[in-house]
Amino acid sequence: MKTGHNQLNPALFVFILYLCIYRSRQQNEPQVSPKMVCQQCSGAVLNGSSVGEFCSSFAGRVAGRCCLGNETSGRERIIGLDLSNCSLTHVDNLQEASAAFIIDLSINSIFNMSDAAFQGFSKLSHLILPAHMACPGGNSSWEKVELKEGKRLCKGQRNTCKQPGRTPANCPGYARCGPYGPGFFECSCADNYHGYKCLREGQFPTLQVLGPLGASTFVLSLLLWLTQRRKAKAL
Ligand SMILES: *[C@@H]1O[C@H](CO)[C@@H](O)[C@H](O)[C@H]1NC(C)=O
Ligand SMILES: *[C@@H]1O[C@H](CO)[C@@H](O)[C@H](O)[C@H]1NC(C)=O
Ligand SMILES: *[C@@H]1O[C@H](CO)[C@@H](O)[C@H](O)[C@H]1NC(C)=O
Repeated sequence: MKTGHNQLNPALFVFILYLCIYRSRQQNEPQVSPKMVCQQCSGAVLNGSSVGEFCSSFAGRVAGRCCLGNETSGRERIIGLDLSNCSLTHVDNLQEASAAFIIDLSINSIFNMSDAAFQGFSKLSHLILPAHMACPGGNSSWEKVELKEGKRLCKGQRNTCKQPGRTPANCPGYARCGPYGPGFFECSCADNYHGYKCLREGQFPTLQVLGPLGASTFVLSLLLWLTQRRKAKAL
């Protein structure tokens, strides 16, 4: 048997490599999805409403039940969400709006809402709920909790890291505590630390940089290993 037949065709190899890189690029494209949550019910953000007023003062763009604002990266994000009078019975899957500053869920018969629905909503500073509902994370997660015109207002999200009894000591090693939605916090490694419990020191590329590169290097190594192995067999 000739070794030449078992070697991977260079053109094919480059093509596979290209596919790998192309695919990982595609997966990293920012998702410009039609934002389902804005169409969760008919109608649009009204001018006189809380979200409407917020939207005009922040020069946002109304799209259905959402107020969209530009990020520094040029991408549009949901900065306000008005799902009031929307016949909601439970709250889940609001993740598309996790960068929102204001969310209105009033005038709905919601009887099921877990705190986890707002996990990651670290910018949320104004949440309007039906009166019978409690603010997510409890009263202590908010600067002010009010009952007004049959609505529960949760104003000014408190930083969970800075609350008495919940010290950054919850984060192990050289990790830093950061807010991650009402009642939630996240631990991220302090500068120069990485690895298990952030105990390793030294510069480390971020996961985003590592992601696509890592995937294609892995496939490259695998292919090389396979061709090597075939060669070895043939010899
Ligand atoms: C809301 O206000 C904007 C400008 O302030 C106006 O163009 C628009 O027609 C108003 N929409 C409604 C439904 O009143
Ligand atoms: C809720 O919506 C219904 C129909 O869409 C409307 O008739 C009603 O006035 C609304 N209620 C409030 C409080 O806005
Ligand atoms: C939270 O605050 C509201 C308004 O001040 C109050 O009605 C409610 O009882 C409080 N809830 C708890 C669990 O303390």
